[in-house]
Amino acid sequence: AFYPVILAGGSGERFWPLSRKNKPKQFLSLDGSGKSLLQATAERLADPVYQLERVHVVTGSEYRAQVLDQLPELPAENLIVEPIGRDTAPAVLYAALRIAREDPTAVMGVFASDHRIGDLDLFRRVILRAREAAENFGSLVTLGITPTFPSTGYGYVQRGELALDGDIPIYSASRFVEKPNRATAETYLESGLYSWNSGMFVWTVEAILEAFRAYQPVLYDTLADAVQERGGVKKVFPHLQKISIDYAILEQAQNVQVIPAQFDWDDLGDWNALERLLGGTAANVTVGRHLGLDTDGAILYTSNGNGLVATIGLEDVVVVQTPEVTLVVRKDRTQDIKKVVQQLKAHP
Ligand code: GDD
Ligand code: MG
Repeated sequence: AFYPVILAGGSGERFWPLSRKNKPKQFLSLDGSGKSLLQATAERLADPVYQLERVHVVTGSEYRAQVLDQLPELPAENLIVEPIGRDTAPAVLYAALRIAREDPTAVMGVFASDHRIGDLDLFRRVILRAREAAENFGSLVTLGITPTFPSTGYGYVQRGELALDGDIPIYSASRFVEKPNRATAETYLESGLYSWNSGMFVWTVEAILEAFRAYQPVLYDTLADAVQERGGVKKVFPHLQKISIDYAILEQAQNVQVIPAQFDWDDLGDWNALERLLGGTAANVTVGRHLGLDTDGAILYTSNGNGLVATIGLEDVVVVQTPEVTLVVRKDRTQDIKKVVQQLKAHP
């Protein structure tokens, strides 16, 4: 059977200050639809084909209540709670160990909770295809996206040989590189051989557990032992290495496959995403009240009730105003918002 697993424990730092420690972006509605990113993700997966009974959500203990509140129909036992977030590798491993206990032949889909996806129909067909590949080849299948700019915030997968022809072809991946630098990303883009890693994966629990055993033996042994013991997970989790699934497994494994998917996809990774989400053709993207003189290419967001943001002679900046914080950042520096958050953590 197929078990979709939603990762919903990220801290959403690049959406600071809207995303705060106690309310990261997956719990927010960024597009004004009233639905949070997590709710939209669950809805995408919980149709009759996938069944909400099998959807699992992995999140940190501090977000447990928010997940249950936002997804009232999720069976409580499908919520997998990490005592403390250690990035996505421990989260995926923990989910795989839990699901394997219920169903050792399970196929697991991993889904981020910060994506926007158009074209649901194609999305679902691609997932079915990925399940087929995962079952037939015992491979680690990533859903790839055709890159449109040299992003340094994504993983890149190089297409190798064709593994399975058809409507939706499947390729073996000859290389996986997580978050390359700008120059490298540019060469990948120009080569035409790379897909972005969408951060959505399909594999059998058997294959992913085997990969953890091979490439992250310490992590694997520690957590596999801990789940056997009452209170074990709580004890070991804070000491697990903090590492993402991309670095921990996908960059190392030899049996990665990629489906270059064609559905409309966006990672709401940082403030620039708002432009793609709400942009249209307006000179500026505004949420809230804004008065701009000679202002162009700006993203202006105020969650400060009726607060007004006025700007003069600005270009390509992001201005975010919340009751507690005002952020002004150049558009090409939004990846560095993380650094501000880190500094504030160190010196509140
Ligand atoms: N449960 C849990 N625990 N979830 C987590 C944790 C954690 O410690 N850390 C992050 N997540 C969740 C986030 O909430 C998000 O839904 C998902 O895992 C991915 O984490 P991000 O932090 O958003 O990763 P990223 O965007 O930098 O990179 C990943 O996604 C890109 C595409 O969106 C990578 O897989 C890249 O290779 C990929 O291109
Ligand atoms: Mg992301």
